[in-house]
Amino acid sequence: MIRVRVPATSANLGPGFDVIGVALSIFNEVWVEASKELKIEVFGEGANKISKAQDNLVYRAFCEVFEKVGKEPEPVKLTLKNEIPLSRGLGSSSAAIVGGLVAANAYLNFPLKPEELLQLAVEIEGHPDNVAPALCGGVTICTQTPKLRCVKLPIFELDVVLAVPDFEIKTSDARRILPKEVPFEDAKMNVANVAFLIMALCTKRYELLEIGMQDKLHQPYRSRLVPGFYEVLERAREAGALGVALSGSGPTMIALTKSPQAVAKAMAETFEKHGVNVKTIITHPQERGALELVDVG
Ligand code: HSE
Repeated sequence: MIRVRVPATSANLGPGFDVIGVALSIFNEVWVEASKELKIEVFGEGANKISKAQDNLVYRAFCEVFEKVGKEPEPVKLTLKNEIPLSRGLGSSSAAIVGGLVAANAYLNFPLKPEELLQLAVEIEGHPDNVAPALCGGVTICTQTPKLRCVKLPIFELDVVLAVPDFEIKTSDARRILPKEVPFEDAKMNVANVAFLIMALCTKRYELLEIGMQDKLHQPYRSRLVPGFYEVLERAREAGALGVALSGSGPTMIALTKSPQAVAKAMAETFEKHGVNVKTIITHPQERGALELVDVG
């Protein structure tokens, strides 16, 4: 029996579009047992929506490892216990991919190195900012220019408030509405904001997150998909959020704070005013990723 725990992730972290992401202490579990035929059971989030057939994303990723090492994929029994809400900007598809890859690697007695697993995960997902923290934990920065490189930042000592609306946004749809070009001034501002973000996280000068979580590359376009976005952001800041942003491609909003209860209340009330039902979750950054959360027994 193999068990892998994979953390949820919040990609972009403000201005770090497709580059920066953070792992959060909300988990999906993948349990694998040898079996004569493929059997997939899903519990928790998405239990009624997720495919239990060959095209299940965890199983597809599981098979990728077999193919990579030149082996015929094997049928297995997969038990998926999900806490990560689907299509809300919290990395549920990355968790599925990373869970499948890490579980298969453990099943085959660890033929692939961590960097090979990351490369495979990025090839399947298309961008690294969810899969990297899901795999490695913490806050990750990735580049693909052209070789994939990934570094981890020190973990931050703040609570994370998530305001999770009760509607879904598919990442593919949220990417389609982005412009092909952005104004030069906006690009310049994002360069500055990312520098402030990294400074804030590396030196624990969290007051710099007010600038360091602002974005001009994707939020101006995607905020239209989230009713009340800028008002929620303002009210969260007034209630004590140090930095607020869209989580991944939305619709969840993420706030970093030392006063999580007040921020959660402000975000929920403001969303409600705009007719959006939300669930608020108070969580924190998760230092260890799926690579370190594998039990083989
Ligand atoms: N960086 C990606 C995007 C993450 O914002 O489209 C998607 O979860």
